[in-house]
Amino acid sequence: MRADYAKDITSLANTVFSHEALNNRFYETWIDNMLPPEHFEVFARNYLARTSNTATMVALSLISTDDLDARVEIAKNLHSEYGYGNPEKAHLNLLKSFLFNTLSRMHGHDYREERLNTVPILPSTKDFICLQRELYTDKGRASRVMGTLLAQEWLAYSMLTRLYEGARNYQHLFETNDEFHESCEYFYVHIGEAEKSHKVQAIVSASRECACDDDFENMSQGFHQFLEITARYWNAIYKRIT
Ligand SMILES: [Fe+2]
Repeated sequence: MRADYAKDITSLANTVFSHEALNNRFYETWIDNMLPPEHFEVFARNYLARTSNTATMVALSLISTDDLDARVEIAKNLHSEYGYGNPEKAHLNLLKSFLFNTLSRMHGHDYREERLNTVPILPSTKDFICLQRELYTDKGRASRVMGTLLAQEWLAYSMLTRLYEGARNYQHLFETNDEFHESCEYFYVHIGEAEKSHKVQAIVSASRECACDDDFENMSQGFHQFLEITARYWNAIYKRIT
């Protein structure tokens, strides 16, 4: 790792905490209130549409770099996304378990993915998915891709803590505390360990692709663009439910 840029990259990463991508009205609403079922569905549909692509984006970032150490760090991230080899523990399946368990309780009957799929995906979410893919497939500029991954991983931990705070508004729908916490494994894997290691791994991968000021500039661009598309994504969901 090139220590000089690692320090700059860490400072850049820390700017997520003051950005609208993390400080927005959707999170405030989600944390403060239990959403009515139709608004919970808007959140669930759009969050799932976006999260379904997460592991693929991480895989694209692996392909974008030729640096072996960076690839190893990204592979660790992917391995945890896919439940360390257990499909039931893949993060996407843990998320679905929370969403459909909660929706079933809100509606008072079994609520399946087919039904959620009838809720339209917001145009802003489609834009997010499209722009995210562009950022992760910037051929020839691995540093920009690593900046994108850096933003994604540094947002993820704080995003998950916020989403978990709001998830607690639905705890009373579960018969026992244990049932609720079992349903929340998606949050615990992220808050407990996964995203903390992903943050460190993202600094390492970004540092491996940062050899000069131009690389750092490209990395900052990818980083800032990801923050911007994330802020737009959450703000549009907020607008749709208010
Ligand atoms: Fe994850």
